[in-house]
Amino acid sequence: MTDKTYVGAIDQGTTGTRFMVFDHAGQVVANAYEKHEQIYPEPGWVEHDPIEIWENTKNVVLEGLSDAGLEASQLEALGITNQRETTVVWDKDSGRPVHNALVWQDRRTTDRVEELQDAGKVEEIREKTGLECDAYFSATKTEWILDNAEPLKMESSRSRDLRDRAVDGELLMGTIDAWLIYNLTGNHITDVSNASRTMLYNIRDMEWDHELLEEFDVPAEMVPEVRPSSDEEYYGHTDPDGFLGEAVPVAGALGDQQAAMFGQTCFDKGDAKNTYGTGAFYLMNTGEEAVASDNGLLTTVGFQLSGEPVQYALEGSIFVAGAAIEFLEDIDLINNAAQTAELARSVDSTDGVYMVPAFTGLGAPHWDGRARGTIVGMTRGTRKEHLVRATLESIAYQTRDLAEAMEADSGIETTSLRVDGGAVKNNFLCQLQSDIIQTDIVRPEVDETTALGSAYAAGLAVGYWDSVDELRENWQIDREFEAEMDGSKADKMYARWDDAVERSLDWARD
Ligand code: G3P
Repeated sequence: MTDKTYVGAIDQGTTGTRFMVFDHAGQVVANAYEKHEQIYPEPGWVEHDPIEIWENTKNVVLEGLSDAGLEASQLEALGITNQRETTVVWDKDSGRPVHNALVWQDRRTTDRVEELQDAGKVEEIREKTGLECDAYFSATKTEWILDNAEPLKMESSRSRDLRDRAVDGELLMGTIDAWLIYNLTGNHITDVSNASRTMLYNIRDMEWDHELLEEFDVPAEMVPEVRPSSDEEYYGHTDPDGFLGEAVPVAGALGDQQAAMFGQTCFDKGDAKNTYGTGAFYLMNTGEEAVASDNGLLTTVGFQLSGEPVQYALEGSIFVAGAAIEFLEDIDLINNAAQTAELARSVDSTDGVYMVPAFTGLGAPHWDGRARGTIVGMTRGTRKEHLVRATLESIAYQTRDLAEAMEADSGIETTSLRVDGGAVKNNFLCQLQSDIIQTDIVRPEVDETTALGSAYAAGLAVGYWDSVDELRENWQIDREFEAEMDGSKADKMYARWDDAVERSLDWARD
């Protein structure tokens, strides 16, 4: 091992694409980022342009390498991590998407989900996929694209019904990892953690579920081959004549939340992390056991290393966390996210105000696609500072919802929670989180754990790192926050949060 080689990670997230390069100690040596457009064709609909995402991916990889003075030949492997569930359908020959990607936040298939619920499909879906029957996942998104995308105008000779084309194997579907792997290597592959988010994949039998494919009318010809998250056989190589000019093994992929869990070295049963990004995602490793939830959590694939059994996780998914702070910016209540700590700290409490940021419905543990954002408890004395504090508190309360569900399902008491994601730079939020769930909050030194996790997966596959024990040594604490608030006060505040959530539920029903 020379210290001149590295592992690269492409982190394709909801708001932008990042490329990072890590050295053997897990330290960042290159970092480039580009945002992409958020397309909102109708209320509740969210799309991304897959071509823009691919173009941005190439740009950030080249920019990251060049800014750090690195050559592609110094990359021993590339890992991919991605916004999960977001769905792309593309033409196998031309590589052109037939429609924009339907983003995980997109709620356009809520009616279809309710139809499934009314038809009594919820239990079957939960049993097979570990997921709640919800518009969040890729199944109804794929179905919607096949039913609604216009045949590509440029391919007039082929403007046959998309479903016929899909049956004939002319169309491919995949989550963003599969889209990027296809563009990087030419192979149609996804990893187990991403497959487990489609609501089409049976996480107990570890294969695409033919009854579900039939239910959603998704031909088996369309779905990618499923491989381990860290794959010694590699998913493929980048094209030496392509944008990188080098054949680099693409050898690891993980959905971004599973990648963060991996980057936080949550390798053992009971290890848990919470990532505060656009949403917040709390995952607990449950080892080789797929623990079914009785409390509104998801059972999902955590990761799989080459030749090893699948490791499962329990997941609590909150749709809006950091996005609630962005909302405050959008309505000009604040100028930037960093201001929230100072404003929130300038008042002792929210003065009775609760904000439930259910802008795209509520995920775990409520699973109500028709819930909507709510602010309750305002008086004539309510100030901007109270609203800002209530917004930060909403992130902490939602996390407590998950922590309680997690403990009830797993029987494991959370005494310490590893955190990462953009919002954990905010010390006020970390302290508040510790106070509200009465648990130690542990922030690691490298907070880009998502990219790091996928670099680890790829690096293990090519032997850049020998074992997960080596990775554990790289994990260092930046700061630990201990609860300062009295437990009974936290319980009281939290009980009122439940009342506020009640008011947001089912709001958008006609
Ligand atoms: O399930 C959605 C999640 O993967 C999105 O994560 O960080 O892109 O908001 P992020």
